[in-house]
Amino acid sequence: MKRILIAYGTRFNTTAETANLMADHLRKNFDVEVVNLKQKKPDPNDYDAVIVASGVIKDRWTREALYYLDKLEKYKKPYAMFVSSSYTLSKPVHVKQEYLEKIAEKHGLKPILMEAFGPMLDFTKRMFFTKKLQMKLAGKAFERKTGVKIRNDGTNDFRNYANIHDFAKEFEKKIMFT
Ligand SMILES: Cc1cc2nc3c(=O)[nH]c(=O)nc-3n(C[C@H](O)[C@H](O)[C@H](O)COP(=O)(O)O)c2cc1C
Repeated sequence: MKRILIAYGTRFNTTAETANLMADHLRKNFDVEVVNLKQKKPDPNDYDAVIVASGVIKDRWTREALYYLDKLEKYKKPYAMFVSSSYTLSKPVHVKQEYLEKIAEKHGLKPILMEAFGPMLDFTKRMFFTKKLQMKLAGKAFERKTGVKIRNDGTNDFRNYANIHDFAKEFEKKIMFT
């Protein structure tokens, strides 16, 4: 069975949850490992295909996911990238260009797939006061841009689960016979 690595960087955990949803789809046909890059930095050469993902805060990927992209520069097998980002809902073209295409180009990468998924602003989890405050401010900005109301006691999950499923299906199709 082919081995797939989904390696992610996250600050508020959305990307971890999206990575795990994706893994659930892929596990029907592959051996999938989901890794938080803050805890572990696996060698991509131990896998038949890799997905690298990051949440985007203040226009930036997490440092560990960016560093991990460097490891893919010499990787000869298929790989893909995705981000979790709130601008996915209001400026999807900008998000693809700024958070995916430019990043891939900067690292000299040619992913077989790149996608942006919506954000989650989850106030139900325990977190430091400062992090909650950051999320509240981001929620206000989100409301202004999209007109969608944020609940300060809710999960505010704006991920499109069908898109996540489709990404997994497309990735599977592309790597099945490589
Ligand atoms: C403080 C803060 C800043 C953010 N800045 C951006 C941003 O610049 N662009 C964007 O598209 N989304 C932004 N977002 C939304 C996040 O991308 C979104 O919440 C995502 O789910 C975070 O991923 P993570 O939970 O894996 O860290 C921001 C969110 C917060 C809380």
